[in-house]
Amino acid sequence: MIKHEKLQKWVDEVAALTTPDAVYWCDGSQEEYDRLIKIMVKEGLATPLNEKKLPGCYLFRSDPSDVARVENRTFIASKIKEDAGPTNNWIDPDELKETMKGLYKGCMKGRTMYVIPFSMGPVGSPISKIGIEITDSPYVVVNMHIMTRVGKEVLEVLGEHGEFIPCLHSVGKPLADGESDNGKWPCAPLDQKYISHFPEDRAIWSYGSGYGGNALLGKKCLALRIASVMARDEGWLAEHMLILGITNPEGKKKYIAGAFPSACGKTNLAMLIPAIPGWKVECVGDDIAWMKFGKDGRFYAINPEAGFFGVAPGTSMQSNPNAMKSINRNTIYTNVALTEDGDVWWEGIGYDAPGKLIDWTGKEWEAGKSNSPAAHPNSRFTAPARQCPSIDPDWENPSGVPISAFIFGGRRPHTIPLVYEAFNWNHGVFVASTIGSEVTAAALDVKAGTIRRDPMAMLPFCGYHMGDYFKHWINIQNKTSADKLPKIFCVNWFRKSDDEKWLWPGYGDNSRVLKWIFERCDGTGEAVETEIGYLPPVNAIDIRGLDITLDTMRELLSVDREGWLKELELVKEHYATFGSHLPGELVEELAAIEKRFGKK
Ligand code: GTP
Ligand code: SPV
Ligand code: MN
Repeated sequence: MIKHEKLQKWVDEVAALTTPDAVYWCDGSQEEYDRLIKIMVKEGLATPLNEKKLPGCYLFRSDPSDVARVENRTFIASKIKEDAGPTNNWIDPDELKETMKGLYKGCMKGRTMYVIPFSMGPVGSPISKIGIEITDSPYVVVNMHIMTRVGKEVLEVLGEHGEFIPCLHSVGKPLADGESDNGKWPCAPLDQKYISHFPEDRAIWSYGSGYGGNALLGKKCLALRIASVMARDEGWLAEHMLILGITNPEGKKKYIAGAFPSACGKTNLAMLIPAIPGWKVECVGDDIAWMKFGKDGRFYAINPEAGFFGVAPGTSMQSNPNAMKSINRNTIYTNVALTEDGDVWWEGIGYDAPGKLIDWTGKEWEAGKSNSPAAHPNSRFTAPARQCPSIDPDWENPSGVPISAFIFGGRRPHTIPLVYEAFNWNHGVFVASTIGSEVTAAALDVKAGTIRRDPMAMLPFCGYHMGDYFKHWINIQNKTSADKLPKIFCVNWFRKSDDEKWLWPGYGDNSRVLKWIFERCDGTGEAVETEIGYLPPVNAIDIRGLDITLDTMRELLSVDREGWLKELELVKEHYATFGSHLPGELVEELAAIEKRFGKK
């Protein structure tokens, strides 16, 4: 019996609207997980992988049209259009609800409706939030088991009157009498997909997609879009950030949180194994950080998730051994390639494809013969965070971990140096608000390869007007004293030479940059003042044991004046989109950097 009347009423209403064959309350148990997997294997939706090489692992192939977030079908339906801002799609909430109710009507026919009580953050922590996802996708249920904390304990914490965020999801494919999916991933056509957020109601309605951020509603929809609104109202931060702990050879430890746009290196940095002797990096989270001020005036961060939904391509024993060791058991693979012996393969796994493969679309694939990738560029693994060999001992600490530095970055082949530090908080917010990146495959409808501005890596995830979000970042400094605030850095692992080669080796060698950031926070690292911020002199980055020329280091750490003058013009265009919502502090920062470059 459910004690929470409001919850029971909502579930009853949704069931009456969507008319599933059965309603099932998830308990989060292993038995439940195994049972649902078994059903999906039987229906041909899941392929069991080699039990010796990959125990407890399964492969799913999505519909070829349902492989990533759909940004042009994602809506922030605030009551007033202006509140959603220029970077979000908006539909009047009443109109959108009418449209979606029409779609939801009877949409679960022939399916089971699952009710998933989940906690973002450790169950019962004061920073955590409870969500209830209703879905007709067993794939979503098993993924939510890994990505969040699901189960009865959540309902116990909720009690009779506790607050929860309702998250309604359907794949949008009702079944006729006696019909089954027949091994085909169910979803709706693009123009019927809706990933909708009602910020004033704190509610999420998703229809038509079964994939990742569109369907696992605790992740981007709750923990970022809705949470960012709550964070604005309550004075904290909900960010698209990894969290890592870094310990120097003397045993001193600091925590760093970092924002990079989708598929730009958060998981890799979070799990990094330092290339420099004596240093240690531990992982608290790889995608989302919720941060509140502690009693000591410092920011404390928790990872609201319990698993990793990581990009498979490019993940190898060379680039990210900790990820490889996290995903060798109890892992769900989506849209990777399958080998003849039931193993997985993807581009950049570190070795050639062993013989014939089945590619992510289910077709035979042979190296050299097939001209499309075997794994989808946005193919993913879903793995429990506790399986990560470098998981931080405090990763589930309900109070969070204290943050010493924020780092922001993106894929920038030119202009942006390997690393620099902002002069102060307002300048740091300026830097973060102007982050740009070459577009990746993590979203369907933006052209890969072009540079787009992605402030704080939150462009697709901010639940309100981005100009107001900048103001929230500016204002939050007033809650503490300047010396308690994290220092803000910009990094760029993705500089390229004229012949399109990486200038910086990246991955484990990024620890060399983290070391400098650590030292700056510790008051020891050297820096020179430039127009753009504090840059490390070439000898301040530890390159011992690295095969890189001093010329390359100089190129990575210099201010490209021509490039920056162009960059500032682009920043101006970017800023113009926010109109009167752009905080005056950022207008001043832009004027100040132009002045430092001798303009005006
Ligand atoms: P989301 O899960 O979409 O938010 O992505 P993410 O930010 O966690 O990105 P991830 O760490 O999964 O990296 C995405 C891609 O970037 C992978 O193909 C990586 O191999 C590649 N990558 C990560 N770090 C580096 C780096 O330091 N240098 C280079 N050249 N590539 C990197
Ligand atoms: C991202 O795109 O930033 C992801 C994957 O982390 S998804 O869950 O699809 O949002
Ligand atoms: Mn992400």
